[in-house]
Amino acid sequence: MFKIWVKKSQEEIKSIIFSALEENVNYSKQYILGIPASYLDDKVFSQDEFFLKDAPFISALVQNPNHIGCHSLGHSESYFKGTQAIEKELIELCAVDILGGQPLQQDGYVSSGGTEANMQAIWIYRNYFMQKFAAKRDEICILCSEDSHYSMDKAANIFVLDIFKVPVDQDNRAITNERVNQTAIEAIAKGKKYFIVICNMMTTMFGSVDPIENYTDELDKLDCEFKLHVDAAFGGFYYPFTDSQNVMSFQNPAITSFTLDAHKMAQAPYGTGIFLIRKNHIEYANTEQASYVEGEDCTLIGSRSGANAIAVWMILMKNGPFGWQEKVFILQKRTEWLCSELSKRNIQFYRYSKSNIVTIRSHNLEKEIADEFGLVPDNHSEPQWYKIVIMEHVTIEKLIPFINALES
Ligand SMILES: Cc1ncc(COP(=O)(O)O)c(C=O)c1O
Repeated sequence: MFKIWVKKSQEEIKSIIFSALEENVNYSKQYILGIPASYLDDKVFSQDEFFLKDAPFISALVQNPNHIGCHSLGHSESYFKGTQAIEKELIELCAVDILGGQPLQQDGYVSSGGTEANMQAIWIYRNYFMQKFAAKRDEICILCSEDSHYSMDKAANIFVLDIFKVPVDQDNRAITNERVNQTAIEAIAKGKKYFIVICNMMTTMFGSVDPIENYTDELDKLDCEFKLHVDAAFGGFYYPFTDSQNVMSFQNPAITSFTLDAHKMAQAPYGTGIFLIRKNHIEYANTEQASYVEGEDCTLIGSRSGANAIAVWMILMKNGPFGWQEKVFILQKRTEWLCSELSKRNIQFYRYSKSNIVTIRSHNLEKEIADEFGLVPDNHSEPQWYKIVIMEHVTIEKLIPFINALES
């Protein structure tokens, strides 16, 4: 059932990463006179072979491969081809084994984070509408829910696009067909003909998931041209494992791209956003002027660390797909425990059933308690809600003192 994702031992992981590093250029042993980069400063970062021999990730950091460009396209900087192949496999694993894509039918890269991956999608679709339909920039807009991440507003600003937000129900955080319809009609009245739709697979504050058909039904009825991106920055490494009926995958022809962040639920280092898109789309973000980069550059970022891709690959391979399911299963159980303790105490909260975020109404919680236990408010100046995210370190032992504090 899993095509690429197969659990590996530490020895196998080490051997694969060290062989990949061997295939990259070696700054100290070869003539590499023209790249404006080197291994990490050895006055600060040890290059001692004894220290590094059992540490594939640190070795990758020290050797400092640059993964500039998009490697799933087939042609990119040959200097770092060994570790780029690892990134290519990671992209394939996420697209095929997590999000149901057909083998070799998606492109993607490891971005600086969810913000960049969302911007990459919006940039591609803006250019797609302009190039394919001769759309004027002010005929294109972003359509998303009011609970979407603020990176949509950033993207609207940077790419000079208007943004329309579908209101959500304040209690169940859901959008509806009717609300999508009203918002789209409002956009059409303002001259919008092309829609960049962002559908959430777990929102930042509430962990809610947008029913994709709310968007697709209504935009189809209105005969609107649209492209749909799923923001799974938070949910991508979680929700596909909790909802066996998940319709947000590459099996769904209405979806063209996804953002997944490994530096959230996958406990990877920062700088591990993952952008995935169906073949024949990423080229709309190609910068032909990137002539000194082999294979040119279809990404927003430019130079980026190859060690980041290696970290995510190692995490997924070490856990394996079944280890991952177990990890998510435990977090779900802890979340259920917390919800039941809150219910027993009549504390109002929101939780999407397939998610590990519990968001508590601020009138049920004193600010001092929220601060003491590190809960995050929706708004620092006037909090309406505080969230708890059940992560690896948020154990029942850590939740018990919080529950006790609610009673005192
Ligand atoms: C749903 C969602 N999208 C996008 C982002 C942005 O991710 P990053 O901070 O990695 O840029 C976040 C961050 O919390 C998020 O929750």
